[in-house]
Amino acid sequence: MIKLSPSILSANLSNLGKDIKDLEKFGADMVHIDVMDGRFVPNISFGMPIIKAVRGISNLIFDVHLMIEEPSKYIDEFAKSGADIITIHYESDIHIDRTIKYIKSLGKKAGIAINPATPVSVLECIIQELDMVLIMSVNPGFGGQSFIDYTLNKIKEIKLLSEKCNPSLMIEVDGGINKDNIKSIVKAGANVIVAGSSVFKNEEIEKNISILKEGI
Ligand code: DX5
Ligand code: ZN
Repeated sequence: MIKLSPSILSANLSNLGKDIKDLEKFGADMVHIDVMDGRFVPNISFGMPIIKAVRGISNLIFDVHLMIEEPSKYIDEFAKSGADIITIHYESDIHIDRTIKYIKSLGKKAGIAINPATPVSVLECIIQELDMVLIMSVNPGFGGQSFIDYTLNKIKEIKLLSEKCNPSLMIEVDGGINKDNIKSIVKAGANVIVAGSSVFKNEEIEKNISILKEGI
């Protein structure tokens, strides 16, 4: 079963509560929340107060993608704010094994994201500890970029590795996904699809979600 995790980076932030309710109403499985600190990535988005504010209005799984330096410092606060899955970047944490174990000790699901140019092989030792791997298919920082084609092979590689070492692994892909490429991404092995601009385009959430689902 393929899950859809729309990224609220592209939502109408002046009416975020409504957009999140609409996601649930129109068949999304998760809400993808992109946290950016202006250091790990060039952009700044939102943090714990926003997550806390919308937690009470949605039953969807909160899929929190931390694009921040030193994520280990903030795990407690993101857990308290209502995250269900906390994903940190391989590139931003030297002691990532410790941080992953800490996330799980708080009863949350733990994921590692890798940038487009980071090879899948860096995950070999830790894959059994993970609930999710997030393959970035754009350079993180902004919505609306184009899918980087060579990341398709990385999805195939992580799928093979997960079949061998962790069959229940969630394989999430994030960046530049639309109705035209979603099928090949799922075929390569993704089972959680992040989509920002293609879900919120023209504020037609219902129509856009159904078009994406038809494309799978
Ligand atoms: C990029 C973010 C993505 C982004 C996806 O740094 O991690 O989640 O919002 O947006 P689209 O689907 O528009 O590429
Ligand atoms: Zn993301």
